[in-house]
Amino acid sequence: MDIDRRVFIASLGGTTAVSLLSDEAKADALEEYMSARLNEAANAQAAPAQFPSMAELEAQIETRSTRRGVGNLFTARTGNVKRLDKLPSNPRLVDFFTMRFNNTSNHCLQSATKALRSGMTEEVVLACLLHDVVQEIIKVDHGWWGAQLFEPYISEKAAFAIRYHQALRFYADPANGYEYPDLYRRIFGHDYRPEPYIESTYQMVRKHKWYGEARMVTVNDLYAFDANAQVSLEPFVDIIGRHFKQPKEGLGYDNSPVAHMWRTIERPDAPL
Ligand SMILES: [Fe+2]
Ligand SMILES: [Fe+2]
Repeated sequence: MDIDRRVFIASLGGTTAVSLLSDEAKADALEEYMSARLNEAANAQAAPAQFPSMAELEAQIETRSTRRGVGNLFTARTGNVKRLDKLPSNPRLVDFFTMRFNNTSNHCLQSATKALRSGMTEEVVLACLLHDVVQEIIKVDHGWWGAQLFEPYISEKAAFAIRYHQALRFYADPANGYEYPDLYRRIFGHDYRPEPYIESTYQMVRKHKWYGEARMVTVNDLYAFDANAQVSLEPFVDIIGRHFKQPKEGLGYDNSPVAHMWRTIERPDAPL
């Protein structure tokens, strides 16, 4: 299997992020990366000509050992989970990005890079950078969970954009450059209709003064894996510095209402 070294490094958050990894962690990351690419290749070959129905997806539930909403940190896509590197004391957002958001950082960096290149405000770029990383602990209602995780540290507007991108993604807005993605026909079923709470959230958000910010997260989201994307956390370090109130005690230790969520991300192997 050919590995594009630059793509692999980018998938880990860039050379700075890689330099922080132990040799063992690098080897593990490479193995995981190769497994994921192999699975993608296999899935692409086996891709059905038609999208599944909701009933077909429902029938898969009892074929799995974990539920679809389980966070990436708690389950391996293939094989077993890997040992995680120890975070520094007083861990910062960038430490979580490089050492814990391993399955979501590439996607979020691609989204934030797209937002940066298309001239979005720094708040929107930050929202794009953070919009899916909570999926490391939970995928169900990830907009709401994600906004909650970041709310003490970012502006109300950026948290709004993160919370509501989840509902808006089910509703096309061609005037603003957003079409309903095929990815969701595959994930949710071709006959999926959003639940009433999503519909009423959408109706509320579309009339809100910050609709544009939440909509731009969906516009800059990526709906297909781009193996050739070159991404790095580096262009976003200053934006994080300006818009993310890093607690001096470290994330998880500042007694905020969400400190336990950061500790859960730090040590997902703790049994109780
Ligand atoms: Fe999302
Ligand atoms: Fe996303």
